[in-house]
Amino acid sequence: MNKPLLIGPFTQLLPMTGLPLKGALKDEQLSIIENGGILVADGKIVKVGVFDELKSADVDIQLIDGKNVCLPGFVDSHTHICFGGTRARDYAYRNAGKTYLEIAKAGGGIWDTVTQTRKASQDELVKGIISRSQKHLKNGVTTIEVKSGYGLSVDEELKMLRAIKQANETSKVTLVPTCLAAHMKPKDWNQDQEYLNVIINELFPIIKTENLANRVDAFVEESAFSPEEIKPYFQKAKEMGFDITVHADQFTTGGSQVAVDFDAVSADHLEASTEKEIQLLAKSNTIATALPGASLGLGCAYTPARKILDVGGALSIASDHNPGSAPMGDLLTQASILGTFEKLSNTEVLSGITFRAAAALRLEDRGKLEAGALADFVVFPTDNYQEITYHQGQLKPSMVWKNGTPIQ
Ligand code: NIG
Ligand code: FE
Repeated sequence: MNKPLLIGPFTQLLPMTGLPLKGALKDEQLSIIENGGILVADGKIVKVGVFDELKSADVDIQLIDGKNVCLPGFVDSHTHICFGGTRARDYAYRNAGKTYLEIAKAGGGIWDTVTQTRKASQDELVKGIISRSQKHLKNGVTTIEVKSGYGLSVDEELKMLRAIKQANETSKVTLVPTCLAAHMKPKDWNQDQEYLNVIINELFPIIKTENLANRVDAFVEESAFSPEEIKPYFQKAKEMGFDITVHADQFTTGGSQVAVDFDAVSADHLEASTEKEIQLLAKSNTIATALPGASLGLGCAYTPARKILDVGGALSIASDHNPGSAPMGDLLTQASILGTFEKLSNTEVLSGITFRAAAALRLEDRGKLEAGALADFVVFPTDNYQEITYHQGQLKPSMVWKNGTPIQ
């Protein structure tokens, strides 16, 4: 082990430890270490505590000037940042009152991005992912889940997943790939079930062989795949050892039942979830993921985050960054705004973008500052953690550390 580096002092250090995965959280439950320090070696945290108590002759010291609040690097557990083109026209049409169907007929919707993504080379997709992930990093996000789903054929889905893998090799942020080959029924395919069969039989084995993803997602919705249609896809994915995640209850219900039936790691969206689905999720191992960026992009209702937490559910908050429904791509802004509409405590908002989001990706080594975790952390230039959500994303990090190195 290299000589450990002691980083600090931090006016307030929020380790985000000792909090439960599920249920409501009050700010009184948040542990705050005043004048804290983090001891780091080989990219990992060795110890977290009071700065002065961690000082010794055996450590190097990196002093942090001024007032500052330190917390785990943010985890964005749901994005679609691998895509070609733009959907600014859809946005204008929506705001002019056009319906989903009218927009799709005018050549918009997910299929428009499929067409534009198919036109892009793998290298062009890589460039897009890197520049978008760089923007997330500036806002304190150190791990980003990235979905395919704008290819919708074996070759084009592979191009996207290979682009995500290639981007991950150079990106400073960790990218976690997910196969979303069931994003919608491809318009150039005649028999729907046959498309999913090809995905199951041809794409899934290549994903395994090339180690392109260990997560599989589908859009369960009237406009995409019904709960019945998607069963063989998730069945096979599960048999092959993939983790399952579901785009569920965005406009109509049914998806969260599928998520629970397949013991999915997360059910995401849930804007249309009723009491029944909220209870169902709370009793399960499936983490509910709110995507306020999609509510802001579409002008729709927010996920009932307060109810989810009050009945004992686990709540992750993610940006859903995509060209169609969530073009903003600013996790902290969106999570803060969700907090104001859904009456969430600071601890609930910050948990939703740190350890609860990490759990939605089954990553136990981040989202918390504790011995053994990755030394991924974000520093804000303030002496009071309440300022972070208060500024709704406009208070920017002064530093972002990834694997024990300052990268921003
Ligand atoms: O999560 N809901 C489905 N998929 C994306 C939207 C993708 C798009 O419109 O391009 C979402 O919001
Ligand atoms: Fe999405």
